[in-house]
Amino acid sequence: MGSLMWLFQFLLYVSQYQLAFSSSSPSSFSSSTHSLYRHGQTICNARSLEILDLSHNNLSGAVPQCLGNFSSTLSVLNLRSNRFTGTLPLAFAKPNKLRSLDLSGNQFEGQLPRSLVDCTSLEVLNVGNNKINDTFPYWLETLPQLQVLVIRSNRFHGPINTSSKSSFTKLRIVDLSHNEFSGPLPMKYFEHFQAMKNKTMPDKKYMSDENSYYHDSVVVTLKGIEIEMQRIFTIFTTIDFSSNNFIGEIPNVIGKLNSLIVLNFSHNSLKGHIPESLGNLTSLESLDISSNKLTGRIPSQLVSLTFLEVLNLSWNRLHGPIPQGLQFNTFQNGSYAGNLGLCGLPLSKECEDSQTKVHPPVLPKEEDDHNFDGLFWKIVAIGYGCGMTLGLFLGSLMFLIGRPKLFVRLAEREMPKKVIRLRRTLTDTVGRRKYSKHQSYFQ
Ligand SMILES: *[C@@H]1O[C@H](CO)[C@@H](O)[C@H](O)[C@H]1NC(C)=O
Ligand SMILES: *[C@@H]1O[C@H](CO)[C@@H](O)[C@H](O)[C@H]1NC(C)=O
Ligand SMILES: *[C@@H]1O[C@H](CO)[C@@H](O)[C@H](O)[C@H]1NC(C)=O
Ligand SMILES: *[C@@H]1O[C@H](CO)[C@@H](O)[C@H](O)[C@H]1NC(C)=O
Ligand SMILES: *[C@@H]1O[C@H](CO)[C@@H](O)[C@H](O)[C@H]1NC(C)=O
Ligand SMILES: *[C@@H]1O[C@H](CO)[C@@H](O)[C@H](O)[C@H]1NC(C)=O
Ligand SMILES: *[C@@H]1O[C@H](CO)[C@@H](O)[C@H](O)[C@H]1NC(C)=O
Ligand SMILES: *[C@@H]1O[C@H](CO)[C@@H](O)[C@H](O)[C@H]1NC(C)=O
Ligand SMILES: *[C@@H]1O[C@H](CO)[C@@H](O)[C@H](O)[C@H]1NC(C)=O
Repeated sequence: MGSLMWLFQFLLYVSQYQLAFSSSSPSSFSSSTHSLYRHGQTICNARSLEILDLSHNNLSGAVPQCLGNFSSTLSVLNLRSNRFTGTLPLAFAKPNKLRSLDLSGNQFEGQLPRSLVDCTSLEVLNVGNNKINDTFPYWLETLPQLQVLVIRSNRFHGPINTSSKSSFTKLRIVDLSHNEFSGPLPMKYFEHFQAMKNKTMPDKKYMSDENSYYHDSVVVTLKGIEIEMQRIFTIFTTIDFSSNNFIGEIPNVIGKLNSLIVLNFSHNSLKGHIPESLGNLTSLESLDISSNKLTGRIPSQLVSLTFLEVLNLSWNRLHGPIPQGLQFNTFQNGSYAGNLGLCGLPLSKECEDSQTKVHPPVLPKEEDDHNFDGLFWKIVAIGYGCGMTLGLFLGSLMFLIGRPKLFVRLAEREMPKKVIRLRRTLTDTVGRRKYSKHQSYFQ
């Protein structure tokens, strides 16, 4: 306990100088159970605190009710990955400057506090991996700056109530996965996700606090792997509605989100055809609509998704020939498993004569390598070949979080899927460049 006392005294001390305190090194005080509550009064007196980052510690117990009172000056509150319990107390001061609120990876229960609507500066809201039992927080749509909404792995339930008002226009990362949402997909929201239709280069490279070292981070599922993005790139966009009970069809309007990079609707009960408009999602690198009840053919328009690196259509009721050419030559049969009616490569089941010659393979043209409309590439600065972006992006993330071994494994696993010509280019040039670029962009 002595060390925790020391922590709060330190907090008080630093807050007077408007500094931030980071506890990213758990070893400093995680040897036993600690309670923030016991020291609530102390911590609540730290009136001018701007950044409170207690993430990745072993803190437990309830959070002091006064925490919301910080927020007249507080811009970042990060309690991620502790063992906090109880309901979310936060009755937020009004007005407040809270920009980033990360309560993920605890055992909070009850509802989301409605007073979050007073946090009009909020850009990042992450309450993922808790036990929150609530309906969809449609009322957050009034937050004008909200860009990241992560409520994955909780007990959110019921249909998503959409309003016709212009809402969530700045959202770029929305993760509702692993909850119990039901009813149709929220078509109206897809219409309003303006930030996912915007290919304009944002001013900032990644989300961070003005004038400070603090960078927002978030855990997302990419290519089937949960990883922590140590930086949230302002051009990264994802919609993850997987593992819920959504029903109905995939709305056509999804095709308008042309800067979307990751789309995951898997493990729901979606019906109907795969909309042809998905072929308009030209930034898409990962598409997972597996384990649904989708019927019909795979639209040949999907062949135009030249950045697509991960495709999973398995465990649906699709039939007919698999489109051929471009990225489709790189997907293996696992992408189509469990659809008894599909035929053609890479499946061993051949199509009827009339079907086989419908889509002759199209080889990529030389200029494709240099001509990408690569918003994403410019930032990450590794613009090299069709569909490799995500792999490299992952690699870069791994590099950032300091796990070069995992990076190497990922890279190796992805390379063999690629067209050989691209692979050559990559192994020759990217390996070295990537690292030097990182140093200049991210260090
Ligand atoms: C966290 O606290 C629990 C309960 O006191 C303890 O069993 C565990 O070892 C602690 N974890 C770490 C990493 O210190
Ligand atoms: C917040 O601060 C005000 C005045 O500073 C005080 O009256 C109020 O009780 C505090 N609220 C909480 C929840 O601590
Ligand atoms: C969620 O809360 C409702 C009451 O508000 C309760 O009936 C239901 O059992 C709770 N669900 C879970 C999974 O805890
Ligand atoms: C649905 O949203 C409207 C406003 O957008 C609200 O008035 C209504 O109470 C909400 N209904 C439910 C069931 O949450
Ligand atoms: C697109 O993004 C740019 C830069 O972030 C911004 O200035 C512009 O207003 C955005 N446009 C729309 C329609 O959201
Ligand atoms: C999509 O979501 C499911 C369940 O949340 C996850 O298992 C899968 O790995 C995700 N797909 C991709 C391509 O990330
Ligand atoms: C795809 O985009 C083009 C050009 O913006 C548009 O004409 C077409 O209707 C869209 N296709 C679908 C299926 O939405
Ligand atoms: C596709 O998704 C299914 C579950 O929906 C999963 O079992 C399978 O491993 C995935 N396949 C690929 C190639 O990602
Ligand atoms: C998928 O490919 C593997 C080997 O690559 C093969 O053993 C298996 O039979 C194939 N499955 C189908 C359905 O074609």
